[in-house]
Amino acid sequence: MSKRLGVGFIGSGFITKFHIQSWVAVRDADILGVWSPHYENAAGAAGLARQLGVGEARAYRSITEMVADPAIDAIWICGPNHRRVENLEEIVAALESGRGKLLGVACEKPLARNVAEAKQCVALIRRAGVLHGYLEDQLFMPSLMKGRALAWSRGAAITGRPYLARAAEEHSGPHMPWFWQGAQQGGGVLNDMMCHSVEVVRFLLSDPLKPRHSIRPKKVTGHIHSLKWSRPEYVERLRATMGSEVDYAKRPSEDFARATIEYVDEAGRPLIGEVTTSWSFVGAGLRLNAELLGPEYSFSHNSLNTGSQLFLSRRVVGQAGEDMVEKQNAEQGLMPIVGNEAAEYGYEVENRHFVRCFLDGKKPELTFDDGLEVVELLMTAYMSAEQGRTLEFPPPGLDLFIPAVAQGTWKQ
Ligand SMILES: NC(=O)c1ccc[n+]([C@@H]2O[C@H](COP(=O)([O-])OP(=O)(O)OC[C@H]3O[C@@H](n4cnc5c(N)ncnc54)[C@H](O)[C@@H]3O)[C@@H](O)[C@H]2O)c1
Repeated sequence: MSKRLGVGFIGSGFITKFHIQSWVAVRDADILGVWSPHYENAAGAAGLARQLGVGEARAYRSITEMVADPAIDAIWICGPNHRRVENLEEIVAALESGRGKLLGVACEKPLARNVAEAKQCVALIRRAGVLHGYLEDQLFMPSLMKGRALAWSRGAAITGRPYLARAAEEHSGPHMPWFWQGAQQGGGVLNDMMCHSVEVVRFLLSDPLKPRHSIRPKKVTGHIHSLKWSRPEYVERLRATMGSEVDYAKRPSEDFARATIEYVDEAGRPLIGEVTTSWSFVGAGLRLNAELLGPEYSFSHNSLNTGSQLFLSRRVVGQAGEDMVEKQNAEQGLMPIVGNEAAEYGYEVENRHFVRCFLDGKKPELTFDDGLEVVELLMTAYMSAEQGRTLEFPPPGLDLFIPAVAQGTWKQ
């Protein structure tokens, strides 16, 4: 029998609960702990794990206590972006003081709010000397993985490599106030969601048989706008639902962002990645789009084109919920149903991958170094948007750059 991995979560919010749900499809690992600043919330998430039968999880009073418990072998960092560095510092201090031992640490996207913080995260995890993983679920979406594999093994193998990839992630806005506050989150929708799309286009454009750096980013052009949430009626709506700290009349964040990333392959051929994200899409719910175009083939994916739909007449006036699709916007009419969101958005395969790597002592497909590279691309896109021009990658000053949105000084 191989050893089982005991996993502890930092944070007990939205994403931790998604990971816990996905765990029914993860082998050789149990969720044994949760820490969150509010003990009752941590206890609630731990209770969910026990209820689903994915581990005898308990709540801890501190990160240090959780790391020190010999039952905990790995930590999944799922706290808010502005707490990343301090969460990691506490893990590393517990390891360095000899109070605990870990096989690995996995961190949710984005690795950090800016390049300086991302580099700090990389330096901290190196010092700790443990395996590390960057949790980018979309690269583990079964339909994306299979689409990419087939486009390359059939289309590219016979007619040549693909040259253009597109990825979009859109919904009607995040669920908690900190996401809307540039200083806490690190930016607006660009930082929050383009991290996914940037990785999706790189993944699709790169040969599955070659290393990540077989394609290299050369130029980045970014645009950001506040299309919806700085309109007066929506400023008021945000204030009413998210609290007075979220003031889009004074400190808006972008709710629309797009970027073009110009890559080259090993032969110097140009490749294009187009990414677009918004918090201003009102459709059934979260929509993930991806496309890959090659000389004689194309792949496309749309997460709302599901096989199942439910029709509810106007007489069905039910409560608002998220039971049909993440970030659901309606409970009437023809609604798509995503059968197993934890599987379809990639969490199941993702967690199986990181568990297996940590148990086997192997470097995961995505590490903190990849998370840093994503942050570098995002910050270049912000810089380009602020300067209104295309930038060579990496641009000078990237390490110290903080987007105006994150400084609370952005005016569109
Ligand atoms: N992969 C994805 O698609 C995806 C989706 C949503 C969120 N995320 C990422 O996951 C992270 C958490 O997002 P969420 O949606 O769960 O947010 P959330 O606000 O729902 O939950 C955050 C949790 O962190 C806890 N917390 C508060 N202060 C903390 C601290 N000092 N240290 C650690 N934890 C603290 C909160 O109590 C809460 O339990 C973010 O980095 C976010 O970008 C990823």
